[in-house]
Amino acid sequence: MKTVTLSTLQAYKRAGETFSCLTAYDASFAHAASAAGIDVLLVGDSLGMVLQGHSSTLPVTIDDICYHTRCAARGKGHSLLMVDLPFMSNATTERLLEDGAALMRAGAELVKVEGEAWMADGIRELTRRGVPVCAHLGLTPQTVYQLGGYKVQGREAEQAEKIINDAKVLAEAGASVILLECVPASLGKAVTEALDVPVIGIGAGPDTDGQILVMHDVLGVTHGRTPRFVKNFMADAHSIQGAFEQYHEAVKTRTFPALEHCF
Ligand code: KIV
Repeated sequence: MKTVTLSTLQAYKRAGETFSCLTAYDASFAHAASAAGIDVLLVGDSLGMVLQGHSSTLPVTIDDICYHTRCAARGKGHSLLMVDLPFMSNATTERLLEDGAALMRAGAELVKVEGEAWMADGIRELTRRGVPVCAHLGLTPQTVYQLGGYKVQGREAEQAEKIINDAKVLAEAGASVILLECVPASLGKAVTEALDVPVIGIGAGPDTDGQILVMHDVLGVTHGRTPRFVKNFMADAHSIQGAFEQYHEAVKTRTFPALEHCF
C-alpha cells in the first residue's frame, strides 16, 4: 500500500474521496489497522480512558503518549501517524514546542492539539518549525469539566458560527488538518466546505473528508454508555483485522456514518 502523507489527504479532499482514521496505541493493533487499509492512525489521549481506565483524558502525560507513540510507530505500516498533545501541553508556547518535539522524536508525523482560535499563535510556532498540526474543535475532551460533560457542541447558531470561524483562523495559522468532534452533521458539512484543508469528523456527520473512531468502539469492547456516533464493526466480523477492514470499507463507500450515527 502507498505511504499516506499530508499530500495524500489533500488529494483525497480535492478528489472528493473520503479517508479512514482509527486510534491505535501499540505495534500489533497499528499493524492490523494499517494492513486493513486505514489511512491515518491516531495515538489519542483517549488511551487514558480505554487503556488506563480513567474517566477522562486529563491524567495522560507526555511520557505516556511518547511511550505509546514509539510502540505504534513500529507497526504503522503505510498509514500516517497522528499523535495527541496531552492536557496542558498548550499551557505556554515553550511547553508546546517541547512537547511537539518530543512527539515528533517518538515517531509522530502529525500532532493534534485541542484549542480554539486562541491556539493560532501556538500552531504558527509549531508549523514554522516543521511540526505539522491537526487542530481539534467542537467537543474537546480535555475541557470536559468546563463543557459540563461529553455533549454535542455547536447546536446554537452563534456557537456554530464560532466553530466555523475558529476552524478558518486555525487553518490560516497553518493547521494542515482540522478534527471536529460531536457537532451536528450540518455543521460538519459547513466546516468541510468552508476550508481547503482536510476535515476529519467523529460524530460530525457523513460529509467530512475523513472519519475517525476509537479502536475499542470499533471492536465493541468499550464499557459504559456507547455514544450515538459509534458502530461496533466486530459484530459481523470474524477477526480484528476483518472488523478494521469493514470499518475502512464503510468509510470509503460513505455507508458509515449513517443517519442513526449523526446529530
Ligand atoms: O484521543 C482520541 O482518541 C481522540 C479521538 C476521539 C478523535 O481525540
